[in-house]
Amino acid sequence: MLRAIYPGSFDPVTYGHLDVIKRSSKLVDELIVGVLNNKAKTPLFSVEERVKMLGEVTKDMPNVKIIPFEGLLVDFARKTGARMVIRGLRAITDFEYELQMSQTNHKMEPDVETVFLTTSLEYSYLSSTTVKEVAAFGGDISQFVPPVVLENIEKKRK
Ligand code: PNS
Repeated sequence: MLRAIYPGSFDPVTYGHLDVIKRSSKLVDELIVGVLNNKAKTPLFSVEERVKMLGEVTKDMPNVKIIPFEGLLVDFARKTGARMVIRGLRAITDFEYELQMSQTNHKMEPDVETVFLTTSLEYSYLSSTTVKEVAAFGGDISQFVPPVVLENIEKKRK
């Protein structure tokens, strides 16, 4: 049984994340989408809201589970029995940070491997940060995020 974790902040989930979730869920038996609850940051959406939206957009994917986590990713991997971490690579600018993270994680837990999926071309520019910025200024984000996220961002703006 191959279990993988796709970790992230998902504040909020975008079509770019969803693309990685769909593609990686076909490569493994079980995919855990690990939603980081980082108490040092103030996200737009609470971890409960992020988990709920992710649950909604993955409801038709039977081998995908959404689980929040705190602390180190390698500890979460040990607890859940996951041997693989999936990350999406959009552009060369992602590479340095991702390399550092995967090598640090591998030093701490050699049994967990990080596997990178290059994001599909149509989403290679997309990030939660830019989506939030466009939304904050009243721009149309319907092509960047699923409808449930759009509704929730609208609610936050009101
Ligand atoms: O969506 P993001 O913000 O790019 O995801 C980053 C994430 C959650 C994968 C990363 O910050 C993480 O794994 N945090 C948990 C803490 C940890 O394990 N840090 C050591 C990795 S070097």
